[in-house]
Amino acid sequence: MSTFWHWYIIVLTVGSLIVTAWFLVWSSKLRVQSTKEEDGSETTGHVWDGDLRELNNPLPRWWLGLFWITIVFSVGYLILYPGLGRWDGVLDWSQEKQYRQEMETAREAFEARFAELAAMDLEQLAVNDRAVEMGRNLYAHNCSTCHGSDARGATGYPNLADDHWIWGSAPQQVYQTILGGRRAAMPAFGEALGEQGVTRTAVYVQQLAGKPVDAAMAAAGRQQYQQVCAACHGAEGKGNPVLGAPDLTAGVYTYGGDLDTIRATIRSGRNGVMPAQEGLIGETRTRLVTAYILSMQDRFAAESADDASAEGQRTEAP
Ligand code: HEC
Ligand code: HEC
Repeated sequence: MSTFWHWYIIVLTVGSLIVTAWFLVWSSKLRVQSTKEEDGSETTGHVWDGDLRELNNPLPRWWLGLFWITIVFSVGYLILYPGLGRWDGVLDWSQEKQYRQEMETAREAFEARFAELAAMDLEQLAVNDRAVEMGRNLYAHNCSTCHGSDARGATGYPNLADDHWIWGSAPQQVYQTILGGRRAAMPAFGEALGEQGVTRTAVYVQQLAGKPVDAAMAAAGRQQYQQVCAACHGAEGKGNPVLGAPDLTAGVYTYGGDLDTIRATIRSGRNGVMPAQEGLIGETRTRLVTAYILSMQDRFAAESADDASAEGQRTEAP
């Protein structure tokens, strides 16, 4: 605030307070000339229309008192709070400071709740009830639109509650998938293979998953598979988590396992994108949501059941 506006506000504010106070003093000293009437009332002596008289009733004292209270209040307010130009007020309060303080308190509360969890690794978090509960909330807000409220996925969005992993099942891999996101690149092979080649490899893909299929078609498809597809999906079709190429032997599909869908996948390719969460929820929350995802795995569910029974024994002990 420039010096001019600083003084402009002070002069106006203080000036109007002084003028109001002076006006109150002046008007309370003012004596209106009055005449006593026969009925005892006082009038100013003004008469209209022959019988309309103006009575002389001064303002009640309590009413005048209210005016003085507002003046005292505003002086007190201007001393305590910012209001006079650049004066910050004795209490040093401001909306911005209050906001910053509230944000800071909220952040501290979150960090405090997370402090003891921060020291744990992902395996420990996955069996920690509090971490899993916080992760469950984060999941509901940030992930359920794509992966479903029960994390069982949908066409194009992998199931996160089963034991099949595209990008790796190790806790650190799952964490990386969520933190940094993943971008799958399955190229289109429609032109390279031709429609017949697409169908044959699709039949072989079904055979890989143990479906009963036409053996001759599958054998022809297998040849093309070894030439074109094995580089990413592996010679045995077990997939490659580094590339995000799914295991084709599991019979679990992101896009679908019927012949037409597999043919469409091979013909046109697929480019699934898991959006990176780092810039959205940050590392701390990503760790918690990873803990929730991992907690749905049998390997961790079994452990936390152990924990629960161990706790039960402890409480039973004298
Ligand atoms: C460059 C590596 C690469 C090559 C080569 C490749 N794939 Fe893929 N494939 C992928 C990736 C990555 C995905 C996952 C795509 C996604 O999630 O969007 C995928 C997905 C698939 C799927 C979908 C599975 C599901 O879960 O729905 C099928 C089926 C498939 N590939 C079959 C093939 C066949 C058959 C070939 C050979 C003709 C082939 N792929 C060649 C990388 C490759
Ligand atoms: C905009 C939709 C979308 C949102 C939101 C989203 N995901 Fe995903 N996610 C995907 C897609 C699509 C894939 C599959 C990528 C591919 O094709 O490989 C995926 C893959 C994954 C995988 C890898 C699964 C595997 O088998 O390896 C994990 C884990 C995952 N998401 C967790 C999460 C979590 C946790 C959140 C919330 C913080 C989340 N996702 C939010 C779309 C989304």
